[in-house]
This record gives sequence, structure tokens and C-alpha cells, in this order.
Amino acid sequence: MPSTVIVGAQWGDEGKGKIVDLLAQESDVVCRYQGGPNAGHTIIVGGETYKIRQTPSGVISGKTSVIGAGCVVDPQVFVTEIDELASRGIDTSIVVLSGNAHLIMPWHVAIDQASERRLGKLQIGTTRRGIGPAYADKASRIGIRVQDVLDPKILRQKIEVALAEKNVWLERVYEVEPFGLEEIWSQYAAYAERLAPFVGDTSLLVDQALREGKNVLFEGAQATLLDLDHGTYPFVTSSNPIASGAATGIGIGPNRIDRVTGVAKAYVTRVGEGPFPSEIPSPLQERVRELGGEFGTVTGRERRCGWLDLVALRYAVRLNGITSLALTKLDVLSAFAVIPVCVRYSLPDGRETEHFPAHQSDFHHCRPIFETLTGWEEPLGAQLPAAARAYVEFVEDELDVPVELVGTGADRAAVLARS
Ligand code: IMP
Repeated sequence: MPSTVIVGAQWGDEGKGKIVDLLAQESDVVCRYQGGPNAGHTIIVGGETYKIRQTPSGVISGKTSVIGAGCVVDPQVFVTEIDELASRGIDTSIVVLSGNAHLIMPWHVAIDQASERRLGKLQIGTTRRGIGPAYADKASRIGIRVQDVLDPKILRQKIEVALAEKNVWLERVYEVEPFGLEEIWSQYAAYAERLAPFVGDTSLLVDQALREGKNVLFEGAQATLLDLDHGTYPFVTSSNPIASGAATGIGIGPNRIDRVTGVAKAYVTRVGEGPFPSEIPSPLQERVRELGGEFGTVTGRERRCGWLDLVALRYAVRLNGITSLALTKLDVLSAFAVIPVCVRYSLPDGRETEHFPAHQSDFHHCRPIFETLTGWEEPLGAQLPAAARAYVEFVEDELDVPVELVGTGADRAAVLARS
């Protein structure tokens, strides 16, 4: 299996980092193809916890770690992360950054924060890291790319052009402080020295690795239902986490992808606003949150918790072409005598469907129809108890996709391979 995409099959935080880390052991190259420091991957190896946001998880395992053109990079976060990893003995010389990736500039962060404040109750609930504004500028063709910092003259010109517009917005629309050209230019020009050693032709690197028969892993950040085109818009991120995004984000043909592994929690979590049909009522939701440690890696926010939603997961199978699933955090459900699973939605007009609604008002007003499975109420070990096995098999039967990996605890070793 030379090339595999790993994609979050729900609303993020499915435990992808751990599965990527596991599969990275057999890979030569690990790539991030979209997103930026809005991602937060926690990897626990031998009692050591690593929280990384910008760099592919493969860096922990010493694999060539690619940040593709489809990503947005906050140079401050990148440099800090690289320095921290290096100080903990991780070899960071294996990180390769696309010169085509776009930079998150200070005004992107300021606009993200100010626009969320201004939206008030209608806010998206973003990570406020400047992701949306950076991708918006990329699409408007006034973005600043990694390769621009390598040429101080071009960099100055681009900052000047951007600031002429951004400062008007910041002052007049958002009523916040503008940015000074000299200050930003000198700050970003100084990043040139730090970024230059990492910049490379990532499309060519990945193409050559695939031609040489190497194993390449594409690590999706965020998740399917946060996809800009196919997720629960507008409560989405501004890039394409779905598997096909790996081809565009890295710069390879879609026919180079051999396998797509969807990572889904055995239940569901969501941060930020937006409809969430299988959300668990209080106080049970707090119990699941505590048991699962469901607090954001990047923002520390409480994650909303719901029972497993097979309608949404079926949609993820379709959008990504998922060939196998990794079901994580099954151990969190060990506390429950009965476990509801959402199998269909009841729509406002009374119809029932097992397919994700194509129209937002159906999704906003649908009600979940649950099937209740029996819990196992015992800790999970090397062999799954019969009821836990039945839970996993129920998911496989409903989705017609094999569950190849099951997460049974936080540590790297706590994953059962089923095939
Ligand atoms: P943004 O990506 O910061 O613009 O945020 C847009 C939406 O995506 C918000 O609902 C965020 O909470 C969500 N989001 C972004 N990154 C992650 C992630 O890594 N895990 C879960 N949700 C995320």
C-alpha cells in the first residue's frame, strides 16, 4: 500500500494523530496537504506527550515530513514548534515546506478574531488562528507565499499591497489597530533565514517517492464535515480535508492514491457552532467529555459530545472513498450499560433517511433515530469482549467498510488490528 490518505471522518479530533503515528512507522514520507495551525495532534509515545499543530505527525518518528502547497503556515508557530521538537531531541531536518504554501500574516489573525467578535451569536467558532482570512486572500490572489519571504524586495511589495487594503478594513470596519509596513516587513524578512532550510519542491519530492515505490502517508487535518465544499457550511474550515484534497494540496494526480483510511471516534465530538443531531443531553454529555478528555488541543475549548452518527459516517465514506476505518476511543464507551447509535435521520417532512441531507434546513431540523446496543462495561484489553466486538461489527455492516483498527486507550500501543 504505497500511498494512503488518512482522513478524519467526523468533525475533527478523531484521534488521527495517533493513527498517523502508528502507520507512519511503516511509511517513508508523511504529508500534510491542507490546513494550518488550526490542527492540533496529540501523540503519546512511551509516556512522552507531543502536541503539534503545523508539522506532520511523522516528524516524531523520523519520517520525511512534507507541508504541501495546500497548507497555510504561520511562521511564528512553525519556528517555535520546530525549535521545541529539536530541543526534545527530534530531528527536524527532515521537514520539507512547499514554497507555494501561503503564509498566515498578523492581519489574518486580527481579522479572524475581529470578525468572530463582530458576528457575535452567529460566529463560526473558529480557532482564531487566521485560517479563513489567509485562504480568502489566497483565493483573491493577494496572498503571500512561503517563497515570497525568500526575496525581501518582493516581500516588501506584497506586504505593502496587502496592507493598503487590510488596514482600511481593520480600522474602519473592525475598529482595531492597523499594522505598520516596516515592522511587518522586518519581522517577516527575518523569517527568511529560519524558513529557507526547509523550503523544497514538495510535489516533485512526493512524486519521486511514489515512483521509487516508497510508502507515502497523507495526513488530513480537520475532517470531512469541516470540508469547505462538502461539510456543514458555514460551520467549516476554509480548506478541503477530504481525501481528494491530498492530490490538489500536494500536487499529484488523484490516481496516485491507493487507499483511504477514515478515522472515526466510537462516538462523535464537535467544537464550535453548528447543528449536531446526535448530541448527547446533559449531564450524560459531561460524563462522556470527562471520560474522553474532550477538550481542544489548540484552544482548550470543551468539545460537544454525541453518540456515533452512522448517517454522517456513511456520508464520509462516500465523500472520501474510504476503504477502511479506524475506530478510536472505544474504551471511553466501556462505562455505559447501553450505547445508542444514530442509524437514520427523521426529516422535518416526516421522511426518514440514512443519507446525509443535501439541504441545510433538513440537516438543521432533522432528528436522530437511534438503535441501542448493549455495552460491555469492562476495560478493553488485547481481546475485545463480545459486546464491544458486536458494536464494531454493527458499524461495519451498516457502512459496508471494514474496521481495521480499534483504539482502546491513549498510548501508541493501545490499538487493536483486526485484519
Ligand atoms: P478554522 O479552521 O479556525 O477557521 O475554524 C473553522 C471550524 O473548524 C471551527 O468550527 C473550528 O472549531 C473547526 N476546526 C478547525 N480545526 C479543527 C481541528 O483541528 N479539530 C476540530 N475542529 C477544528
